Amino acid sequence: MTLVVNPYEILSAWRAAGRPATLGSHVRGQLDRLCRVTGVADPERRYADSLTDLLGTSADRPLGAPPAWPSFVSDDHTPAEFSVTVPRGGPPSVRVLTEPGCGAATLAGNSRSGWAALRRLAGRWEFSLEPLRRVETLFFPAAPQGAFALWCAMELRAHEGPGFKAYVNPGAHGPGPAAEVVDEAMARFGYARAWAAVRAHVAARRPDDDRFAFVGVDLGSWAAPRVKVYVAHHRFDLDGVRRVAGLYGGGCPEQVVRFSRVAGATNRFDGRPLLSCLSFNGGPDTCGPTGYTLHLPVRDYVGDDACARDRAASVLRDQGLPTALLDRALGAVSRRRPADGVGLISYLSLVQAAGHPPRVTAYLSSEAYRVGAPRTQRPRPEKS
Ligand code: TRP
Repeated sequence: MTLVVNPYEILSAWRAAGRPATLGSHVRGQLDRLCRVTGVADPERRYADSLTDLLGTSADRPLGAPPAWPSFVSDDHTPAEFSVTVPRGGPPSVRVLTEPGCGAATLAGNSRSGWAALRRLAGRWEFSLEPLRRVETLFFPAAPQGAFALWCAMELRAHEGPGFKAYVNPGAHGPGPAAEVVDEAMARFGYARAWAAVRAHVAARRPDDDRFAFVGVDLGSWAAPRVKVYVAHHRFDLDGVRRVAGLYGGGCPEQVVRFSRVAGATNRFDGRPLLSCLSFNGGPDTCGPTGYTLHLPVRDYVGDDACARDRAASVLRDQGLPTALLDRALGAVSRRRPADGVGLISYLSLVQAAGHPPRVTAYLSSEAYRVGAPRTQRPRPEKS
């Protein structure tokens, strides 16, 4: 793979950016540098304009002001998070996840602004919102509950136009009916059959242990919707990983177990929950999920980002993937030394999907507001 950038170019890109004044300029600078290091070209800066739409009214907020809303997109409430996927052989892709309605005072206002941003983007890039409209009445009640209502992601690749996704909350009517909300959504998407095959097994433990966290919907026009169901597994272990990963018949559960062991360096996960993501995209005749991703919140299982970076590099090497891109991506998003904080790498994930070799994704925090203090005890320099 040839990359269009050398380290000096990134340094000068940082210098040229100066000190960003607003949240928008901070996040746009990060995305711009990430695009350069991954070879995603944006000569007309259309991605930068779309990112502004995706940030909603937060884009113009002074960086020094506190976050407008306690967005749960990231730990410091920055309403944006990046991810970089390293596939085998092909070009990398970059994603940015945002909460466009983050500037609103209520969750209902938040989802209205989110929809407005999506309509603008759909007009700009000519994609369809039909998949999300199918479940609009389900996920957007008049008085929504929960920690969020609507998140959006823009995915960028080298030789294709951008892709867009929406994420909605199964707990929009409160935690009690979340499982029924997912059942109804899957029926509306045409996946009643595929979902019935796994629903009792993916969240098999007590509702406190296995919680429906997100539903993801690809926006655009396909013969069949592409949707994802995310389940958070609290107090989990490697046997649980093996069991849930096995629900996708086309994957290799042992590979997911190995990924968890390398990324988490433990057999038990009592910190932040691991997340299973089951994907469905084959249409009504599909008998089960067409892909499985395990997300591991590596930031909770390390003392600092130097350790998180080493875990990410081990996971990549284990899959036979190069690690140079990871370091460039980290340098594009943050100038601090990895050992000086924790949370820059929020998640690591392993994707298994029909027709593709396994892919590794690293999720990178924007850290616009705060850097998590490292938990690592470093030896003090000796007094002389
Ligand atoms: N910040 C939230 C969390 O940690 C949501 C989130 C952001 C997330 N990026 C993610 C969840 C990537 C899974 C994977 O849960």
